[in-house]
Amino acid sequence: MSKQRVLTGITTTGTPHLGNYVGAIRPAIAASRDDSNESFYFLADYHALIKCQDPNAVHQSTQEIAATWLALGLETDKATFYRQSDIREIPELSWILNCICAKGLMNRAHAYKAAVDANVAEQEDADKGITMGLFSYPVLMAADILMFNAHRVPVGKDQIQHVEMARDIAQRFNHVYAKKAPLLTLPAYQVDEHVSVLQGLDGRKMSKSYGNTIPLFLPEKQLKKHINKIKTNLLEPGEAKDPDTSTVFQIWQAFANESQVSEMRQAFAEGIGWGDAKAKLFDLINHELAEPRERYHDLLARPNDVEAILQEGASKARQISQPLLEQVREAVGIYRLA
Ligand code: TRP
Repeated sequence: MSKQRVLTGITTTGTPHLGNYVGAIRPAIAASRDDSNESFYFLADYHALIKCQDPNAVHQSTQEIAATWLALGLETDKATFYRQSDIREIPELSWILNCICAKGLMNRAHAYKAAVDANVAEQEDADKGITMGLFSYPVLMAADILMFNAHRVPVGKDQIQHVEMARDIAQRFNHVYAKKAPLLTLPAYQVDEHVSVLQGLDGRKMSKSYGNTIPLFLPEKQLKKHINKIKTNLLEPGEAKDPDTSTVFQIWQAFANESQVSEMRQAFAEGIGWGDAKAKLFDLINHELAEPRERYHDLLARPNDVEAILQEGASKARQISQPLLEQVREAVGIYRLA
């Protein structure tokens, strides 16, 4: 069987946290080691501009996210790792797709609809603060995906609709321009059910928008402090505790092996104190992250090396995007006169 092409993008806003690591980065790096896959992972910096208009923040986040993936062991000779904005063919494909994508399809996009609903609820103009970038965000995302003929797109639940839209757009393109020999591959989303959605300090889903995250590469002391801030109930040491309603236990499970999980379950039943449980949690997380943390800081101090890796990734990626864009241009009637 030919290899499955797996592609996903990481928007370059903010600093990666434990939830990103457990829910996306760790499984993606594991999948890239599977030889039946061909992985494409990229920094979605054009998408960042939709959410963030602070140039320094976008730039810094790009550097941090690149260093994070490399520090965690992404092997760039196996996976193709690149920055969206280095692939000049993506915005061009995006425009061509804009010209076949129905506006009505975009009207139904969740992110855009949520913004309109919020305006209406506050009796504001429906379009207040909504840019064309936000409106056509799914088209750019479709270009990211279709540019590399990806088969599978691992995403969080909130992105399922966008991958389905990419599929619709590909179908439309093939129908209009490439009926005999479809040019674009129809992608499918992949939502990993057994990858856990990590809880944050307050017990809700760990998310930057809730301000309840634990950044991934905090210095040890600060990591300890953050873990100590995880919300617990008021049960004393010696009183049995319910692991299944505990954030400490939930995060433990995301880092522990099977026997460690059952040991902690037992400790909860036996009334381990919250302080002890958190100290154990710190040790476990720190054990997994200590080495990558060192590599991360080393990489941040060597931006030239990280840049060189991204450039290599871009040239590998463009070996695919350039010829595909040529075919697309020809299919739509844009090519030299002679
Ligand atoms: N929009 C995605 C997110 O916010 C990131 C992204 C951009 C992406 N382009 C993509 C994901 C292409 C998968 C495929 O999470």
